Amino acid sequence: MNHVIWHRLYLSKYIARVPKVLLNDSLLLQSWRMMFYRSRFAHTDLKVPDFSEYRRRSNKPRVRTCDAPRKLLTYSVAGGGCVVALYSAKSVVIQLLSSLSITADQLALATIEIKLSDIPEGRNVTFKWRGKPLFVNHRTAEEVEMARRVDISTLRDPQRDEDRVERPEWLIVIGVCTHLGCIPIHGSGDFGGFYCPCHGSHYDTSGRTRKGPAPTNLEVPSYQFVGEDLLIVG
Ligand code: FES
Repeated sequence: MNHVIWHRLYLSKYIARVPKVLLNDSLLLQSWRMMFYRSRFAHTDLKVPDFSEYRRRSNKPRVRTCDAPRKLLTYSVAGGGCVVALYSAKSVVIQLLSSLSITADQLALATIEIKLSDIPEGRNVTFKWRGKPLFVNHRTAEEVEMARRVDISTLRDPQRDEDRVERPEWLIVIGVCTHLGCIPIHGSGDFGGFYCPCHGSHYDTSGRTRKGPAPTNLEVPSYQFVGEDLLIVG
């Protein structure tokens, strides 16, 4: 630090001896100012000569006369990107749909085929369908008569027997009590149909609730007969 102070003192002494005329914005004064204040001049006013004539052709800046090749490249890249995006979107949609669609084994579980000739008259056979018991009840003529004799205005869940079956001798219902989900017993109860021992619900030969806490009739699933001997449920 000391040498800077001494340097400035020496310069100020020297300036004092210089005639005032010389100090009046002369070149010497400007250079001193530069040294004293350490100011820096950027020579932005200097013009760079043009050496284009001496440059190789390959180093000269290119002058485009036509934009077609550049546009072609741009459109090609954009078009390629669109094709790739569409293809990816298609794959994603296909994968999504295939994951949502039902598989063959699920479809097999969704429907059940029952050979009717294996179920004798008066018997009720239980199948497992979609995780629930399915009752296929081969009714006798007497049971059908009992179901159709009922005045439906007296029922808790009024339904005609004709509306619950496709063929009079075949009653197909889900074997789940509509009260709290127990499995009723066939051929028991006060109405000759089904009886749920859990809380004492009675169903008639059409699976309609007649007594006890069950609020609704046994559910009838969707089914169809194929020919005389085959029943498809689901
Ligand atoms: S579950 Fe059948 S009566 Fe309650």
